Amino acid sequence: MEVIVKENYEEMSKFAAQLIAEVVRKKPRAVLGLATGSTPIGTYKELIRMHKEEGLDFSQIVTFNLDEYVGLPPDHPQSYRYFMNEHLFNHINIRMENTHIPNGMAKDLKAECEKYEQMIKEAGGIDIQLLGIGANGHIAFNEPGSSLSSRTRIKTLTEKTRQDNARFFDNEINKVPKYAITMGIGTILEARKLILLASGENKADAIARAVEGPITAQCPASVIQFHRNVVVIMDKAAASKLKGNYPDTPAELRL
Ligand code: PGA
Repeated sequence: MEVIVKENYEEMSKFAAQLIAEVVRKKPRAVLGLATGSTPIGTYKELIRMHKEEGLDFSQIVTFNLDEYVGLPPDHPQSYRYFMNEHLFNHINIRMENTHIPNGMAKDLKAECEKYEQMIKEAGGIDIQLLGIGANGHIAFNEPGSSLSSRTRIKTLTEKTRQDNARFFDNEINKVPKYAITMGIGTILEARKLILLASGENKADAIARAVEGPITAQCPASVIQFHRNVVVIMDKAAASKLKGNYPDTPAELRL
C-alpha cells in the first residue's frame, strides 16, 4: 500500500488524475471504476483539462461507477448518473454507451445487481478503481458491517451516511434515499489497481482506521490493506490522525 500525503485538495486531485491518465494513455480501451461525492470532483476537473488541453483520449474507454441510489431516475439532479454526466462525461470524448452506472430504477433490483457484475466481467475487469471514503469508513455504499467478500447488491444506508448526504437534498434527511445499489467489497478488491482519496479533517479518523487500523468489517475501507496495488492519496487535514510519516511523492519518483 502506498500512502501519499499532499499539501491540499488541489494537489491530491492533480496527482489522482495523473494516475488515471497514465492508465488511459497506456491502454486506450481501459476500464475505469469511478466514484461520486465531493472528493473526486477535482480529479474529474483535471481529467477534463487534460482532455481539452492535452488531447487525453477517452473514445474507447469504458467506465463502471461504484453505486447509485435506489429510486432516483437518471435525470434527478442527485442521481449518480446525473452527477457523472455533469462532472465528467459531458466534457470528454467518452461514448455514453460505454459508461455504466447501476440502474436504481430497475424493476428487478436483484437481477440488475447480477447483470452489473456480469458486465464488469465481460468488459475484462476494472483496471483502476477510484474510491472515496465515508466518515464512518464506508467505501462505495458498503457500510460498516458489510461482508468483506460482498458482491454488487442492495444496501440500506446508515443514518450517518444519510445525514452526511442530506446536504445535497436541501438538508432534509427524509429526502435522502434509504437504499442504494453498490458494488460489493469483493467486487472492488478485484480491480487491478485502487486509488483511495480523502480530503478534510472529517475524514481523518476514517483514514487512520483504514490505513493503520486492523482489517475489520466495522471499517470497510480497511480492506484495502489486502490489495496488492493500492495508492491512498490525501491532503494534510485527512492525514492529521495518522501515526506514521508518509511522503508526498510515490516511490518510483523518489529513487
Ligand atoms: P464525499 O463522500 O466524497 O462526498 O465525502 C465519500 C463517500 O462517502 O464515499
